[in-house]
Amino acid sequence: MRISNISTLMALALLSLIVGQVTADSSAGNRDAFVAWTVTDLAVQGPLAGLEGDPRRGRSVAISPAKGNCLACHVMPVAEQEFHGTIGPPLAGVASRYTEAQLRLLLVDIKQLNPTTLMPSFYKNPAELQRVAKRYQGKTVLTAQEIEDVVAYLTTLK
Ligand code: HEC
Repeated sequence: MRISNISTLMALALLSLIVGQVTADSSAGNRDAFVAWTVTDLAVQGPLAGLEGDPRRGRSVAISPAKGNCLACHVMPVAEQEFHGTIGPPLAGVASRYTEAQLRLLLVDIKQLNPTTLMPSFYKNPAELQRVAKRYQGKTVLTAQEIEDVVAYLTTLK
């Protein structure tokens, strides 16, 4: 009887170790979980999740076809790429037209300002999205860090 009690205790201890491990893993996997934002004065004040943006990283996120793909629709001061689309306005000088907080709203969900725009919402609450392909379900187009990086890059375009 005593032996079986001990083995039960050991099994429980082992179980709690495993559970602890799984919990730690899933919270690490949640690094890119959606961080809610709110609109104040037609802008999103303050960085998403308090993250600091890096303009150099933001430039590569913006011009990467697999990430922002901004060049598909915007002429940008990016000499190394030949094709620049013209569906949207040129982005040179955009930081003189908008504040950092306004640029953040334009990036996360420009549809708040123009519901019929062709520009994608790069950081909309996935729970509010409809008809999403399975591999994109529960995800934003860019991560919070990538949004802050692109915002930091855009603020250099004076
Ligand atoms: C599919 C086309 C498309 C893509 C891709 C796109 N945009 Fe746009 N963007 C537009 C259009 C169109 C507008 C004009 C505003 C409107 O339609 O309301 C716009 C407007 C903007 C504006 C406001 C500019 C101004 O002068 O008013 C900014 C800033 C902007 N986009 C940044 C970006 C960035 C950064 C990316 C990439 C991360 C991006 N856009 C990707 C189509 C696009």
